[in-house]
Amino acid sequence: MTATAAGCTIGLRGVGKSFARRDGTTLAALSAVDLEAAPREFITIVGPSGCGKSTLLKILAGLTTPSSGEVMLNGEPVRGPRRDVGIVFQSPVLLPWRTALQNVMLPITIYRQPQAPALRRAAELFELVGLTGFEDNYPFELSGGMQQRVAIARALIHAPGTLLMDEPFGALDALTRQMMNIELTRIWDADRKTVVLITHDIAESIFLADRVLVMSARPGRIVETIEVGLPRPRHISVMSDPRFTAHVARIQHLLGVGEAASGGH
Ligand SMILES: Nc1ncnc2c1ncn2[C@@H]1O[C@H](COP(=O)(O)OP(=O)(O)O)[C@@H](O)[C@H]1O
Ligand SMILES: [Mg+2]
Repeated sequence: MTATAAGCTIGLRGVGKSFARRDGTTLAALSAVDLEAAPREFITIVGPSGCGKSTLLKILAGLTTPSSGEVMLNGEPVRGPRRDVGIVFQSPVLLPWRTALQNVMLPITIYRQPQAPALRRAAELFELVGLTGFEDNYPFELSGGMQQRVAIARALIHAPGTLLMDEPFGALDALTRQMMNIELTRIWDADRKTVVLITHDIAESIFLADRVLVMSARPGRIVETIEVGLPRPRHISVMSDPRFTAHVARIQHLLGVGEAASGGH
């Protein structure tokens, strides 16, 4: 079987990435990453800072070319940015001189798609992300969490089959972040896409996912895949479920969290 297996919307096989350094040496950021995602599967990737998570997502998005390996999306090799993908970055990167609605409509303008059906869809998306009534507000009038929800609506406006998110809630405070996690599972439950979400937050990686891929320190490899197996829709109370806490402990162990502190046990 290859990474292009039928029914697989994302397939990475043996993907590596090295960067040339100024001193003439090379830096291996990723090494031999294999990943397969089924349609409408929610995958999260958790790993230490600098292990190549953003590089991996950029490769998936066609924004970075891998040094080795094969990247397939919806049965086609990825050779550049694609319309069937929506991307959400760590900061919302909204255009400050455009209203929330104008920001959400940006991909429609760029891809020259018809405005009228997109405006109807934008109204639905504002409803979905809980921002109805804020269409005409400028980014500076919105909180960080609201701006990130605008960015999510913008990533969904052209109805991509795949959503790629790179630490989308990394800049938010813990409470807003938890609320955004609940919000995101609700949005995904309403309109299931194939999602790959990068995070360094262990609880977030489990709460959102069908499967968690755990990455090693650089050069990043996937060291373990965890089937979450918790029922949906998920309530925040799932975090005290023994299966949830067992996953947390396993990922902490894989990432070497608290090893120094737990000596003697
Ligand atoms: N364009 C680039 N040129 C050179 N080195 C890079 C580039 N992008 C990333 N790197 C290096 O690759 C490694 C992985 O980076 P990154 O994918 O951003 O990690 P993460 O998102 O997991 O924190 C880091 O050591 C980083 O310095
Ligand atoms: Mg990163």
